[in-house]
Amino acid sequence: MNALTPNRPDVPAPVGLLAELTHRCPLRCPYCSNPLELDRRSGELDTATWQRVLTEASGLGVLHVHLSGGEPTARNDIVEITKTCADLGLYSNLITSGVGGALGKLQALYDVGLDHVQLSVQGVDAQNAEKIGGLKNAQPQKFEFAAKVVELGLPLTLNSVIHRGNIHEVEGFIDLAVKMGAKRLEVAHTQYYGWAYVNRAALMPDKAQVDASIRIVEAARERLKGQLVIDLVVPDYYAKYPKACAGGWGRKLMNVTPQGKVLPCHAAETIPGLEFWHVTEHSLGEIWRDSPAFTAYRGTDWMQEPCRSCDRREKDWGGCRCQALALAGDAAATDPACSLSPLHAKVRALAVEEAAETPPDYVYRTIGSNVRSPFKEDVNS
Ligand code: SF4
Ligand code: FES
Repeated sequence: MNALTPNRPDVPAPVGLLAELTHRCPLRCPYCSNPLELDRRSGELDTATWQRVLTEASGLGVLHVHLSGGEPTARNDIVEITKTCADLGLYSNLITSGVGGALGKLQALYDVGLDHVQLSVQGVDAQNAEKIGGLKNAQPQKFEFAAKVVELGLPLTLNSVIHRGNIHEVEGFIDLAVKMGAKRLEVAHTQYYGWAYVNRAALMPDKAQVDASIRIVEAARERLKGQLVIDLVVPDYYAKYPKACAGGWGRKLMNVTPQGKVLPCHAAETIPGLEFWHVTEHSLGEIWRDSPAFTAYRGTDWMQEPCRSCDRREKDWGGCRCQALALAGDAAATDPACSLSPLHAKVRALAVEEAAETPPDYVYRTIGSNVRSPFKEDVNS
């Protein structure tokens, strides 16, 4: 269990901060977890404000900072921000696409004390990868970037988001991670929020493909023990129980958007009626302890049945609030990914049906698009 928040023994202290430094990104992945309405550069927090936020995070007990985006190296001050993390003793993880200006800034990031790099790879076959990411010539840049990370001696994690467009490449992702010298590989089946929810029919694999991917990962874990750690995130729609999303609402993580809104998870803005506080108006500690968004679903008091009387309620904290909203139309409902939810069978049937159909074209992530979330009940009618 994490430590407690000073002066509030009922509130655990956060351990991680996801700093979404910018929504700008050269890639356009159709499963991006950023919101459909992306923040523009003109509204981004300045360097000094990020440095204050990091200082407050450190004071609150945060240990890890994930420097994310969009593409965090698109910011001119990424080196200064990373240095601030190092000066404060915060473990910094750069979550990057490895394209655009990333390679050119890597040495400087290393020099100021960057601790870890997480590189996204969209596919193994270059043509497929570049179709998914919506950017030509991305793959060679990623290879060059990964080689430099390893040459510097920085720990490298590859992140592969898995869906029907690349699930046939799971074995290839494992080989690629070994070839690149990564220490860790995330085989993360798509989580259907944000852009992935819009693209769900294009991304949903079938159950046999999912099962095969799990078997491949399990065999590789045995084979590569001591060489490569493989994390597996299974797809919610085919799961028995949901994950503890964000480690439980308001329990471990806080997410600061490019404009400075503080969210309990990256998709929290999809929940209507939640009030999010801003780092320019409140300290991070006030926001964590007392803001309406963080207190809304913290703990178990808000739960309905079957969560309320379930003995897993303090393990998965009822699953994902954003998914409950998207699928059940009620953010306080049991996550329909849970087999105990009355909606679970319909969610599973929906996945089976979508996976059997010809996939539609991707709706690519774009700043200023007028794409609207199809959040309306799919299964509750
Ligand atoms: Fe978790 Fe609620 Fe399902 Fe129990 S009923 S396993 S607490 S989501
Ligand atoms: Fe918001 Fe899961 S993404 S609680």
